[in-house]
Amino acid sequence: MKIVAIVGSIREESLNMYLAKTMQERYQDKLDIEIADIRSLPHYDQDEENNPPQAVKEFKQQIANADGVIILTPEYNWSIPGVLKNALDWASRVEKVFIGKPVFPMGVTMGTLGTIRAQLHLREILTALQAKQVPPAGNEVLIGLANQKFDLQTGKLVDETTLGFLDSKIEVFIDLIKSA
Ligand code: FNR
Repeated sequence: MKIVAIVGSIREESLNMYLAKTMQERYQDKLDIEIADIRSLPHYDQDEENNPPQAVKEFKQQIANADGVIILTPEYNWSIPGVLKNALDWASRVEKVFIGKPVFPMGVTMGTLGTIRAQLHLREILTALQAKQVPPAGNEVLIGLANQKFDLQTGKLVDETTLGFLDSKIEVFIDLIKSA
């Protein structure tokens, strides 16, 4: 299955990017996970939406071609980062590439609440985009206290409980894609 991962942080040592890379490697036998480049997307501009810049065209095509999308978001001021909202706004217009698309929201933070407030906003946005979300009940991947769960030298998620939870939830995502 072809999956696009959208990481809502563009910093070099992003924990959310670490999680995307951990998943890319861990699930390589069942999922072909490509990480989207949202750093190269310009600011959304409605004047350009009918003929957007090349980076936007490529990003939207990547989503259109994918069987599913994983969105890994940090929490910024109780919500999702602007770079992620910008990417979702581009994807929501003209060819609306999220309609019916299976999406698995998740997030990582050093804090204790595991990005819950950001993910609640993300789920509202995904509802507006008419995405087919992994149902939240029992399936929320909220990774808090990340400094205790990642090996910050290698960038790998190493906490076995979290990895086991993720393994079972990836199966929920795969089932959602199969039923889409
Ligand atoms: C944060 N952070 C943060 N954390 C949180 O739990 N709730 C919040 O509201 C915020 N707000 C916030 C705003 C801004 C502007 C920054 C830069 C950071 C902390 C943030 O979640 C943490 O730095 C994550 O590690 C960022 O994700 P990446 O970059 O590691 O993927």
